[in-house]
Amino acid sequence: MLPTIEWVEDKVVMIDQRRLPGEEVYVECRDYESVAEAIEKMVIRGAPAIGVAAAFGVALGFLKVTSQADADEGFSRIYQRLKATRPTARNLFWALERMQRIYKDSRNLPLPALQKRLIEEALDIEREDVEINKKIGSFGRSLIKTGDAVLTHCNAGALATAGWGTAVGVIRAAFEEGKKIKVFVDETRPFLQGARLTAWELSKLGIPYVLIADNMAGWLMQKGEIRLAIVGADRIARNGDAANKIGTYSVAVLARENQIPFYVAAPLSTFDFSLEDGGRIPIEERPAQEVKEISGRLITVADANVRNPAFDVTPARYVPAFITERGIICPPYQTH
Ligand code: MRU
Repeated sequence: MLPTIEWVEDKVVMIDQRRLPGEEVYVECRDYESVAEAIEKMVIRGAPAIGVAAAFGVALGFLKVTSQADADEGFSRIYQRLKATRPTARNLFWALERMQRIYKDSRNLPLPALQKRLIEEALDIEREDVEINKKIGSFGRSLIKTGDAVLTHCNAGALATAGWGTAVGVIRAAFEEGKKIKVFVDETRPFLQGARLTAWELSKLGIPYVLIADNMAGWLMQKGEIRLAIVGADRIARNGDAANKIGTYSVAVLARENQIPFYVAAPLSTFDFSLEDGGRIPIEERPAQEVKEISGRLITVADANVRNPAFDVTPARYVPAFITERGIICPPYQTH
């Protein structure tokens, strides 16, 4: 299993995803503030992975609470800080809300028992995430046939989760079944999650892949070189509109134009049934520097005006099916 994040002796250890694939360096967080900063600075990223990090952050932060009298105020300070790290991925809020429910249900326990309970819950969230991804993989692999070339965007692999991956997890499950497949990896400007992280994961797993610049997918689809596309998601509204890494919408539109199926693989914790449609999903704007520089080197004029929305929303009509841990879901959607 590829390492993403671990709870080790009352510390949270995560691989520094900013430094991959060049260096495999681990960051140790000893307090909730360093976990919050790691999420903000993209040491760890990917919707399910930041959910796990936030849950660990709560457990770690609460270990520093020293008296029962300070517990409510302490919990709320930690919760609010982690909640403010990144706005788009539903999994972050889902994990925090789950930790809050446990806190409320267990707050009458003596402090050491309550601290232990929060650690156990965070570890459960981590463990369950891997199991969920494997289920997503075992449902989704039927959509891939031997000989297929699959396009993926961003990184929805082991690094974006507690392990295994969602979209890459489906590809991995098909590959492990013995299907001969090839993956086209969008480089995913500006943060290069595809070039740096998905390519790194696929090469470690021995899955054949071809790295392409983002603007090449349309041409390759038109030439018949791509048979399907599978991506992850950060938040899915009740009607099926799906927010994912910027550029996903372009892939979906190109896939439709070229009659190529475009699937979204995501756990149920990514669904936000409180939002009627994708227009209400908060879209993070990240620093201009991410667009203006590559590896710390300026690639444009120093004072260029920049926009850097980190996500876009693909309308539900472009998504013929969602691959979840409960199975493959197709429209029309009904929620009860
Ligand atoms: O900004 P990031 O790298 O956190 O964005 C990640 C993505 O958009 C992923 O595709 C998404 O979180 C799904 S990960 C299983």
